[in-house]
Amino acid sequence: MNPFPASQPDGPGPHHGAEARKIILDCDPGHDDAVALLLAHGNPNIELLAVTTVVGNQTLEKVTRNALVVATIAGITGVPFAAGCDRPLVRSIENAPDIHGESGMDGPEQPEPTTTLDPRHAVDLIIDTIMAHEPGSVTLVPTAGLTNIAMAARKEPRIVERVREVVLMGGGYHVGNWSPVAEFNIKIDPEAAHIVFNAGWEVVMVGLDLTHQALATPEVVAAIEAVGTKPAKFVMELMEFFTKTYKDAQGFDYPPVHDPCAVAYVIDPTVMTTQKVPVDIELTGTLTLGMTVADFRAAPPADCHTSVAVKLDHEKFWNLVTDALVRIGEVDP
Ligand code: BDR
Ligand code: CA
Repeated sequence: MNPFPASQPDGPGPHHGAEARKIILDCDPGHDDAVALLLAHGNPNIELLAVTTVVGNQTLEKVTRNALVVATIAGITGVPFAAGCDRPLVRSIENAPDIHGESGMDGPEQPEPTTTLDPRHAVDLIIDTIMAHEPGSVTLVPTAGLTNIAMAARKEPRIVERVREVVLMGGGYHVGNWSPVAEFNIKIDPEAAHIVFNAGWEVVMVGLDLTHQALATPEVVAAIEAVGTKPAKFVMELMEFFTKTYKDAQGFDYPPVHDPCAVAYVIDPTVMTTQKVPVDIELTGTLTLGMTVADFRAAPPADCHTSVAVKLDHEKFWNLVTDALVRIGEVDP
């Protein structure tokens, strides 16, 4: 029996209503980025305005191709995809082949992408998209290093006031995964993270404290398999690969599927609890570079603009993912 029954779709493919939240997904697919993209595409409460890529899990070229592969598998059309920065602001490039493989999205067979790239640099697509929409209407959802977002904020500072909020996967207030205290997305470009966390816009940090609760357990994988479509099979095979690498590289029994948690928060904030707390980025520590330092000592000051995600509703979260796959339905690439 499917322990995570998906709601009935109201027709073939996802539909977003007038009240849908407008987002730009900035990603580095990436197994979990792929699930984030599918969730954003398949949920009716999200209007995906643009998808941008940045170096991270693999080279810019590879993660960009992977994003287009996911678009092809899910039948995402009419959404601009653009490639962004191919290296961090200051540091040299670090990728994560131990977790995501040589392609950055190893495991399932990958079709030749049929979607083509927007000619703009991702930083310009981000700026153009935010400036073309009503102030306070666009949410940025970065699920990778923050290089593109920091560059956009520097190139067009007006976006900082215009964005509704930044809901990012990155960091962690009590644990790291790329060092004892730093998480991958923050550690690979800490200067960019420093810019983003200090820009003044609302930042919701969906970090490892939360995403380590988003485990793809055998029940979850079975529920995804039960959807029975090609996109669902693709996710299942991504999860099989992710399970193995997370076991081998980090000793997890089941892999934490980080990135869709940020999208899920935008869809339905009740999927997790959050706490307002000042957060800053360590830039000079020998052992602590890229640590997201959260100050829990007192009540947050009135101008505090950062929150951290604390507790996930595991069932609600995975229901959103399977529901999105049901809505996406069968797609013939
Ligand atoms: C983050 O790092 C990447 O490998 C994943 O895609 C996720 O965004 C988790 O630390
Ligand atoms: Ca990612």
